[in-house]
Amino acid sequence: MSEFYRIAVDGFSSCGKSTLARQIAEVLGAVYIDSGAMYRAATLLALQNKCIINNQLDTGCFRPVIQHATIEFNAGNNHLLLNEQDVETEIRSPEVADHVSEVATHGFVREILVQMQRSYSEKASVVMDGRDIGTHVFPDAEVKIFLTAEPRIRAERRFQELRENSVDISFDEVFENVKKRDEKDQNRRVAPLRKADDAVEINNSYLSRNEQLDKALEIIYEKIGDLS
Ligand code: DC
Repeated sequence: MSEFYRIAVDGFSSCGKSTLARQIAEVLGAVYIDSGAMYRAATLLALQNKCIINNQLDTGCFRPVIQHATIEFNAGNNHLLLNEQDVETEIRSPEVADHVSEVATHGFVREILVQMQRSYSEKASVVMDGRDIGTHVFPDAEVKIFLTAEPRIRAERRFQELRENSVDISFDEVFENVKKRDEKDQNRRVAPLRKADDAVEINNSYLSRNEQLDKALEIIYEKIGDLS
């Protein structure tokens, strides 16, 4: 095993991946990386630069923009910094949610973000959540967890989250958005969402946060021992 370990937490949108990955990182003293936030930041960047036309990414417009962008996480509060600006609120907007699947289908966008994701893991042990972490970013990750939950339950969680952030949106819109993204995430040509053969699945539809953390830690300790 190398100096640092990698724990991959993959699964559908609004499954609670980030909650779980953050909890694991806290218990183990590792760095938490939200890869979805990075795709959201790329989408925000495309929107800011008017590189999305008729719901399609204009690749000629966006390629030089993303090549020169920096995407980092504030070590204190874990907020995403896009070109050194804190955009944690902006990346959670419905406008970004509506376009992120389109931006995430482009190979050059994924290559740039995957390179950044791998480079973070060279400096520290990481717990990274996303869609392709166990299958593509870290195919040899020490631990791979695949998190699932029923679509309606996921939509309820996302709806709650948006309401808490004062976003004006109906439950039906959120539910549609969740289903649309599941479909796109699973069927896209580049790095589709699928469970890695060696990933362990946790269905958290009816689990509390503590129960899912206990399950995950059990899996981690079984695979690589007590890392804390
Ligand atoms: O986890 P999230 O809902 O914040 O992710 C936002 C979008 O980014 C989602 O539609 C899929 C995409 N994504 C991806 O393609 N690959 C990842 N590793 C993480 C997210």
